[in-house]
Amino acid sequence: MTLRLSVIGTGYLGATHAACMAELGYEVIGVDIDPAKVEILQSGRVPFYEPGLPEVLARNIAAGRLRFTTSMAEAAAAADIHFICVGTPQQAGANAADLSQVFGSIQALTPHLRAGALVVGKSTVPVGTAAVLAEQLALTAPTAEVAWNPEFLREGFAVADTLNPDRLVVGVRSQRAEDLLREVYAPLIAQDVPFLVTDFPTAELVKVAANSFLATKISFINAMAEVCEAAGADITQLAEAIGYDPRIGNRFLAAGLGFGGGCLPKDIRAFMARAGELGAEEALAFLREVDQINLRQRTHTVNLALAALDGSFAGKNVTVLGAAFKPDSDDVRDSPALAVAAAIHNAGGKVVVHDPKALANAARVYPTLTYVEDLAEALADAELVLHLTEWPEYREFDPTTLGSPPRQRHLIDARNRLDPVVWRAAGWTYRALGRPTA
Ligand code: UDX
Repeated sequence: MTLRLSVIGTGYLGATHAACMAELGYEVIGVDIDPAKVEILQSGRVPFYEPGLPEVLARNIAAGRLRFTTSMAEAAAAADIHFICVGTPQQAGANAADLSQVFGSIQALTPHLRAGALVVGKSTVPVGTAAVLAEQLALTAPTAEVAWNPEFLREGFAVADTLNPDRLVVGVRSQRAEDLLREVYAPLIAQDVPFLVTDFPTAELVKVAANSFLATKISFINAMAEVCEAAGADITQLAEAIGYDPRIGNRFLAAGLGFGGGCLPKDIRAFMARAGELGAEEALAFLREVDQINLRQRTHTVNLALAALDGSFAGKNVTVLGAAFKPDSDDVRDSPALAVAAAIHNAGGKVVVHDPKALANAARVYPTLTYVEDLAEALADAELVLHLTEWPEYREFDPTTLGSPPRQRHLIDARNRLDPVVWRAAGWTYRALGRPTA
């Protein structure tokens, strides 16, 4: 019999999970409280930019395996396994995660659950959350069960990461829960994707440990970039050289403006907050430093920009290339690029922002910045250009097409991806993070 699944929450994670589970051949219903989002998804479109997802979504809706609703009762009736994919953002004014969507969605789901339903958490939560939810469920829906199955997908590669993950981790308390999840993921397990079965706290911790490691790796290389800059060395060569050691590896070793997005920054902060509650604060003290190094890249970039403009932003034309927190995404949550753009705007600069996909989202967060869709137009009058999100079109852009500038023009490459030779030859000064000035 075909497995029947629901996916609760249809953001980057949930919409992708729903579409990909349907792609595996299951009957899937996606649920969201936002009727506008549900309507878009139900019409076969994706309300955010995620390469490859529209095709998978449309194909499975057309095949009748995938549908979306705002009704939790409908979802509960239509499925036996429910994946919780709602957001766990940082609490306003605190480091801890805001779990209201997790608890809210499960409370809404519980009264309608079918006997023996399995509720599978995928959202990133503080360790201990699954146990609390299991206790609640035991009181309100005694035949139902909880499992935890953290999601490791990257935005921009969400479909590939879901259908071909590095590993699957399931935190369970019963053989039945394990068996059900083995059945869900059977097509992936058959392709030799490692399937790890753990208890609840281990499964919850795997996710935040992985993200903490990635954040640490980025801040490590950015700390090295700071030293390179002080010593006149080149971080890109240093990173390449240490990356050949397979114990270190060259991935996630790109120095620059640092990490942002809806996961890494808030996850390391929530992890520190939770460790504090557990009396293990000291163990994660280094993550405070990781966070600080990361935020320092933003201030440092603003300072380099200020120096390039002789100490004043007032009335100066500054063009920011990139608004998304990384390329191949329209996500601007905690975007380092937008943080820098806003800081320069607040200091009096006339900031123009370009991004291939994220301008609409950026304009919602920072309505006072100027957004320009055409790259050449965005660059035309710039005295200073800041390369802050490494979209391929920026590397491919030929600066000679801008013609001879009436005055000296400056480029700060905060992602170390543009070619200094090309830009200098076109009459620009080129400055990067962690590299010699000339
Ligand atoms: C991350 C994790 O990679 C993923 O496993 C988890 O499920 C969610 O969080 P994501 O937020 O989509 O995924 O972005 P990721 O590709 O990891 O990049 C995070 C940030 O780090 C971006 O701002 C990126 O620009 C930055 N980064 C990445 C660097 O500054 N240097 C690098 O070498 C790599």
